[in-house]
Parts: sequence; C-alpha cells; structure tokens
Amino acid sequence: MLAEVDLWTDLAGISLKNPVLLASGTAGYGVELSGLMDLSRLGGIVIKSVTIEPCTGNPEPRIWETTGGMLNSIGLENIGVDALADEVLPLISDFGVPVFASIAGDTVRNFARLAARLESAGGLAGLEVNVSCPNVEKGGIQFGSDAGATAAVVTAVRENCGLPMFVKLSAAVTDIARIAEAAARAGAAGLSLINTIPGMAIDPVSRRPRLGMVTGGLSGPAIKPVALKSVWECYKATSLPIIGGGGICDENDVIEFLLAGAAAVSVGTATFQDPDSAIKILDELPAAILRAGSNSVIRLVGSLRTS
Ligand SMILES: Cc1cc2nc3c(=O)[nH]c(=O)nc-3n(C[C@H](O)[C@H](O)[C@H](O)COP(=O)(O)O)c2cc1C
Repeated sequence: MLAEVDLWTDLAGISLKNPVLLASGTAGYGVELSGLMDLSRLGGIVIKSVTIEPCTGNPEPRIWETTGGMLNSIGLENIGVDALADEVLPLISDFGVPVFASIAGDTVRNFARLAARLESAGGLAGLEVNVSCPNVEKGGIQFGSDAGATAAVVTAVRENCGLPMFVKLSAAVTDIARIAEAAARAGAAGLSLINTIPGMAIDPVSRRPRLGMVTGGLSGPAIKPVALKSVWECYKATSLPIIGGGGICDENDVIEFLLAGAAAVSVGTATFQDPDSAIKILDELPAAILRAGSNSVIRLVGSLRTS
C-alpha cells in the first residue's frame, strides 16, 4: 500500500485533481475518446486547435514515424469555431474534467474573435493560444517567433475574453524565455510548452519528401530534452504556471517536467501508441512521486536541484 500522495495541482486558479492532461491535436475534441477511456480520471483535456472557418488541413501523407518520434503536417484540420461552439462544447461537461480549447488565428483580430466566440459558448476552463503551429502558411509560428507579435495576440485575446489563457510556444526560436516574458507582460495566465519542432524526412529511393507538405512538426521522445529545457528557462524567467509537454511517455517523464517547473503536463504522441497511455501514467505517478522523495505534485514543481 502506497503512502498518501497528493496529485492536486493548480493552473492560474484552475484546480486540477491531477497534473495529466491530453495534448491538443492528439485527443480530437475529447468526444472521440470518451467511449475508449475514462476521461474523468484525467487532470484535463486540451482539444484540437480551432480556426474561424472549418479547415481540411494539408495534403497527405501527413504522418511519418521517425527515430524516437513522429513528424506530422496535419495543418490544423478542424470543424471551425461555430461547429465547435454549437455542437461540441455543449457535450464537454459530460467529461467531468476541465476542458481547454485551443485557438489558432491567422490574424491578431481572428485570435480575438475565436476567444470571444468560445467564451460566450461557455463550458470551458480556459484557452490555449496556439502561436506555434509549424504546419500552416499563415499565422502559426510566425506569431510565436516574435515577442511583439506574441504580445499583440495575447493583448487582443485578453481584451476580448475573460477566460484564463495559456500561450503555447515553440522551442524553434532563438530565446523562448524572452517570448514567454512578453506573453506574461501582455497578460497571459500561463504557458504551454512546447509545440512540435519543425522537421522533415526524405525517401532516399524516390527522392521525395515523406510528407505531402514536405516539412512537418516533430513530436515524441526525440523532443523531450528540448521541451524540458524550454520549461526550465521559462519557469526561471516568468512566474507563470506552465503546462509542460513534449515526448512524455511514462511517469518518470512527468516527474522530470514537474522538476523543471511545469505545474501540469500534456501527453500527446504517446497516445498514438497506446490510447490509454495517459491513464497508465496516472496510475504509476504516485509511486514515482514517492521515489522522488515527495508526497505532492505541487511541492515538486520547479524543485530541480542545481547545486
Ligand atoms: C498529430 C498531431 C496533431 C497536433 N495538433 C496540434 C494542434 O492542433 N494544436 C496544438 O497546439 N498542438 C498540436 N500538436 C502538438 C501537441 O499538442 C504537442 O504539443 C506536441 O506533439 C508535443 O508533445 P508530444 O511529444 O507529447 O506529442 C499536435 C501534435 C500531433 C502529433
């Protein structure tokens, strides 16, 4: 019998019964998974990024497995904000966990419109603001690679929406901490780190790219060290709560992210290997917290020993 371990955590005033979330784009709208797993066990869910208009995404192939990871170029395929608000959000209270929507505007104004529309639809605990998608021609990482552009998006969302906002950043920038500081100054409630890292793969026989869009975003264990460093740097630079993720596959990965400064974590690519991976991680997490010499998630956050 394990000693009592407190899994509770807090994201900018949002109370989570445990720190394990499903990452945006890897859990659909939650509805698709509700028959396959007990969503109510999770700390929360971040649903697929939404745009103003429905989007069919990029040409196929859109997924390619790499050593220790996966490339995708889905390209923000989604049903559009009106369908999300009218058809999906009324169902999310059934999940029994906080749900975060992810918005992806192609302009600053459209980020604000998306946020306002979703807030008025109701039911959401918060928003992720995706300024880091590498797979779209307009918007995406263009906003998140510039501190001023990130701040402009955050300001516009804050002026039009009262929901807590977690800004999702890319590690494919010169200095992620400076972008995080700009997001903090503009009024972000927290950060979500990291999105996929731009990459590509080539078939050496046909000499063709493996992905229809040629380039894509790398996720999975291959990016975990980069994600950890990003979390650590942003934790030191801002006082914002962080949703950390990138390559999390087991409970020990979660501990690493907590130590680096994440208050919660997101599980993405691992769910492609095993849809139940987040639940399995959760089952093993109390024992890992005890092994790390603690009995609470909150006390582990940012407690990396550097001397
Ligand atoms: C197929 C796929 C689709 C994704 N779609 C989105 C998305 O719509 N919005 C977003 O912010 N991140 C998206 N991501 C990025 C993930 O949310 C996550 O940040 C990234 O994959 C790193 O975590 P992981 O290694 O655990 O997957 C997607 C990732 C994958 C693999």
